[in-house]
Amino acid sequence: MKKKVLVTGGTGFIGSHTVVELLQNGFETIIIDDLRNSQVEVLDRIQKITGIRPSFENFDLCDLPKLQDCCHRYPDIQAVVHFAALKAVGESVEKPLEYYGNNLISMINLLQVMREFKIPNLVFSSSCTVYGQPDLLPVTEHSPVKPANSPYGNTKQISEEIMRDTIAAVEGIKAISLRYFNPIGAHESALIGELPLGTPLNLVPYITQTAIGIREELRVFGNDYDTPDGTGIRDYIDVVDLARAHVKAIERLLNNKTKKNFEVFNLGTGKGLSVLDVVKTFEKATGQKVNYKIYPRRPGDISSVYADTTLANQELGWKADTPLEKTLLSAWNWEKNIRKKQNQ
Ligand code: UFG
Repeated sequence: MKKKVLVTGGTGFIGSHTVVELLQNGFETIIIDDLRNSQVEVLDRIQKITGIRPSFENFDLCDLPKLQDCCHRYPDIQAVVHFAALKAVGESVEKPLEYYGNNLISMINLLQVMREFKIPNLVFSSSCTVYGQPDLLPVTEHSPVKPANSPYGNTKQISEEIMRDTIAAVEGIKAISLRYFNPIGAHESALIGELPLGTPLNLVPYITQTAIGIREELRVFGNDYDTPDGTGIRDYIDVVDLARAHVKAIERLLNNKTKKNFEVFNLGTGKGLSVLDVVKTFEKATGQKVNYKIYPRRPGDISSVYADTTLANQELGWKADTPLEKTLLSAWNWEKNIRKKQNQ
């Protein structure tokens, strides 16, 4: 019997790649997604890649009766991977109630059904944003969690606290929180990838849209940081590597490889790269020129952050090993594929 995994936000960017990895590793998946930031065609694409069509439920996790009904209809769920959340830092400053309401109520509802339906394992999609600008680099899991600088970041911190407290009080639930650094790239089939609505906020989709001619120039936000070339440093992790880490986390929980009920892992490459490093590597990998201009710093940005990945490497038996060139080429192939489809 295949083990059943519920994936919230499973048609989204990281969710869809994780569903592919889960299916390819012998799990059965049930996606819950209300498609507010993704498209139903993703299900066809997942089927094309894996030969399996995941079960799909279209509703908002804030609707507890619907979530309970879903759990009735799919008995024996063994684990939940919780991606579904609002995720734009700037928007969260404008709309704090929407962010707190959506991201926290969905987390509370999920834990409630896990208790009610005796679903034992949870993997949560968290973020390195919980560390703010760390005092020491690279960032380990012991680095202090700093006061969040956006409601979005705060929802990740509070969600982790809600999980921790619930797990301490409710017997039979274990959880792993995965703190992602900067996920980029797309599946090598170019069938699934990141689909930003409107103007992209993140670096790599902005680069691919500039290279393809949708944007005139990449705005590089600041070249006066205390970094070798003055531009901001991040830890860019390939989305398929990231997806594989979720399978490892689920297996760790299912196979009782840990005695701890709540664990946290940083997921990154361990390598910090500047904005200009990424631009240059993209140009080299794809042969495409990227027009860029230096602009002032973007408010709220930190200078540098990158992960110490020792714990994930040792405990999960996982390592991000896709070369950056390959990841950026996958992002470019995906961009070309979306535009081709739009022009058909
Ligand atoms: N950048 C540019 N130009 C752009 C976009 C980004 O120069 O058009 C720069 C930023 O200043 C930063 C780097 O590229 O130095 C990466 O920026 P992203 O917006 O891609 O990513 P962030 O590190 O700002 O944010 C990401 C996620 C957030 C998360 C945060 C910390 O998007 O959800 O990491 O975890 F909160």
